[in-house]
Amino acid sequence: MARSLLLSLTLTFLFAGIVSARDWNILSQLKGTTTTTKTSQTGVTSLKAPNLNGYCESWRVNVELNNIRDFKVVPQECVWFVQKYMTSSQYEDDVERAVDEAILYLGKTCCEKKTCDGMDAWIFDIDDTLLSTIPYHKSNGCFGGEQLNTTKFEEWQNSGKAPAVPHMVKLYHEIRERGFKIFLISSRKEYLRSATVENLIEAGYHSWSNLLLRGEDDEKKSVSQYKADLRTWLTSLGYRVWGVMGAQWNSFSGCPVPKRTFKLPNSIYYVA
Ligand SMILES: *[C@@H]1O[C@H](CO)[C@@H](O)[C@H](O)[C@H]1NC(C)=O
Repeated sequence: MARSLLLSLTLTFLFAGIVSARDWNILSQLKGTTTTTKTSQTGVTSLKAPNLNGYCESWRVNVELNNIRDFKVVPQECVWFVQKYMTSSQYEDDVERAVDEAILYLGKTCCEKKTCDGMDAWIFDIDDTLLSTIPYHKSNGCFGGEQLNTTKFEEWQNSGKAPAVPHMVKLYHEIRERGFKIFLISSRKEYLRSATVENLIEAGYHSWSNLLLRGEDDEKKSVSQYKADLRTWLTSLGYRVWGVMGAQWNSFSGCPVPKRTFKLPNSIYYVA
């Protein structure tokens, strides 16, 4: 009897939990107005309202899915979460998975060093694809919580201290050794060229075919248009672009559409 009463109480609380879950709102969560239910007798059953963790993970995943676009800053209540994820071993595992999938795909493409005619190409982004900007966000402590200060960020890029994104040096050389021409297409500005080259070499990358940075004319276009125009140019030269790997959706949008795209996680900033 006592047990069934406890069970029905628990169910009632569970139901209340579901109702409050539907009505759950990030602001009331922050103000602490959401009730946490507990069966005091046992102290075992603890029904919590969906937490910030769940909300922020869903925000992050929807950024990666390209459902959430054009965000200016990471929602204030999720900055800690984005920081936690981007500095976690989970982030590294997610990158590694993308690298593994790219290698699997390479095994199925026709480009083999013996038969290569030198026209098979692969495109990489630089920031948060080959080189990590995490140390910048760490030292500035905001992880997307404030709009990127371009001046400060470029000063950091110019210092050439970015480390390689985990697992990417391995993939880079795997692709290169298969006989692909590697094109680095970045929204970094032209004046950062020598710092970028030094940084890339320091981090373990070399022997790319071309490093394409944004000149003054390109700055008038959106980054996605700039990158699409460069793909058009490569195609017009006769290159077959087998894959594009980037940390922003702008690396893949527009025409020509690459045969395969590999998106690396990045929920810190959004560039259209
Ligand atoms: C951006 O950074 C520069 C260089 O550190 C600084 O002088 C400037 O005040 C910053 N701008 C904003 C809007 O915070």
